[in-house]
Amino acid sequence: MDKFLVYGNPIAQSKSPIIHQMFAQQTKQAIHYDKCLSTSAEFEESVNKFILAGGKGANVTAPFKEQAMQMCDQLTERAKAAGAVNTLIFSERTIKGDNTDGVGLVNDLKNHQVQLTNKTILLMGAGGAARGVILPLLAENPKQIVIVNRTTEKAEQLAARFTDQKITAISYAETAKATFDVVINATSASLSANLPDLSSTCITTNTVCYDMVYGAKLSPFLNWCKKHKARLVIDGLGMLVGQAAESFYIWRNVRPQQTQVLAKLRSQLQ
Ligand code: ATR
Repeated sequence: MDKFLVYGNPIAQSKSPIIHQMFAQQTKQAIHYDKCLSTSAEFEESVNKFILAGGKGANVTAPFKEQAMQMCDQLTERAKAAGAVNTLIFSERTIKGDNTDGVGLVNDLKNHQVQLTNKTILLMGAGGAARGVILPLLAENPKQIVIVNRTTEKAEQLAARFTDQKITAISYAETAKATFDVVINATSASLSANLPDLSSTCITTNTVCYDMVYGAKLSPFLNWCKKHKARLVIDGLGMLVGQAAESFYIWRNVRPQQTQVLAKLRSQLQ
């Protein structure tokens, strides 16, 4: 049976094993998928041991996505652009790294019938989560991707990494001067129940708001967007399932169905 792991710290909360086992059952693939708690000091050794033990691939979550990238012999374009790897593929002594987070986000937006082509997107945050989704968002040919960050300089530096003129950076104060079709929260603010300093006027009754976090209750950010009459609010559970589906496809060359898996996970949220 082919073996897979997800690395992280913490990792106890990870839903990846449940998701991949559901994908495997559905597509009749014989895989075993487990989770592995690691530390920065042990991470590389742990991956190498897993390869020697016959591991076929791994997912990587916080805080090891950048470290995982350093270990790779080959990287996909989207992993290079993300500067981080969430999917490792092991074959004949080479380690290939990919990043499926952005595809997971874009597919979830599409599943909600959210158009991105020719739309103005506000991307909140300039850390790894934001950086990871820029290339796949750009591939949908939006009119503009505007990055906003608490530390504006970091937003400017992130925008400057991409040569595409569609990507610009602003401060939170400047969000009062524009409106957006899609607003994506890629900050870690929701994790500490904080609200970024976004102007409510940049959200209209046509705006779709997305938060990369998920939970049984709406995040403070999505509650705030609802209060300000956003057209649609979406949490990150679909992105989680979507990134897993893309990893599964890379490893098994079979595309799993996501709808039922998503519904089951949603019903188990507490
Ligand atoms: P991740 O890998 O999840 O992106 P990160 O690299 O630590 O984590 O980035 C966290 C992001 O959330 C940053 O953009 C951070 O803004 P700063 O660069 O100014 O620190 C943003 N963030 C965290 N808490 C926030 C808050 N309360 N309001 C606004 N932005 C916040």
